[in-house]
Amino acid sequence: MFRRIHFYRELASTNTTAYELALAGAEEGVVVIADAQSQGRGRLNRAWHSPPGKNIYVSFILKPAMAAHQAPQLTLAAGVAVAEVVSQYCPGRVQIKWPNDIQVGGRKISGILSEVKAHASYVDFIILGIGINVNMDREDFPPELHHTATSLKMETKKDSCRLTLLSELFFAWDKWYETILKNGFKSIKDPFLSYAPIIGKMIQVTFRHEVLRGQVIDIDDQGTLWIKNERGEKVQITAGDMEFENT
Ligand code: BTN
Repeated sequence: MFRRIHFYRELASTNTTAYELALAGAEEGVVVIADAQSQGRGRLNRAWHSPPGKNIYVSFILKPAMAAHQAPQLTLAAGVAVAEVVSQYCPGRVQIKWPNDIQVGGRKISGILSEVKAHASYVDFIILGIGINVNMDREDFPPELHHTATSLKMETKKDSCRLTLLSELFFAWDKWYETILKNGFKSIKDPFLSYAPIIGKMIQVTFRHEVLRGQVIDIDDQGTLWIKNERGEKVQITAGDMEFENT
């Protein structure tokens, strides 16, 4: 599917360039890749550390026929694709931290940032941005990330070929994208949960300044997380930063 690839030495952010291309009429399947980003962006307005020569920074332009409220499901599906690829390098050690941090040994190796432009209630386009830490050494990360971030190199003790990884990512994403478009999120749910063993766990989710606590009951067929809070009420959660609670 991904036939037209725009590669740049450096961009502010591959998501920003992909968004501009999509606004200018670029088709579904156009991909933007950069070797470095000067203003790489993460979720919740965070920065994404994006030095040259080390990592993968890629954004896909997607134009799925779906309602705007379903768009977050694609981010969950992308998490499964990334987890599958990273698992080939670190078998049995990869987890998805809901909604879409990919971790190895509890440290973040990859993140996903989706940006949606919706026309009325339907999706106009979605920019799906994926960053994977590939050949970073510990000292390549800023000090504040030393205890929370990792890379394929740190986990496998060797360099990996970014081109190979990208082609593995393209194949995996192509497969999961087709699956979710054909059969909906319910076809992604079990693979997602196999990387995100979250059901029954006590969690807290922070969104803006609100903190919600409770036990995870389910991820429904729409990809929404449901928890039972301290008062026994069922609460739906669609976004935020999740942490497991010590019980
Ligand atoms: C997160 O975990 O907060 C999401 C990080 C997403 C980073 C990728 S790198 C490629 C694309 N371009 C960006 O500016 N961000 C995403």
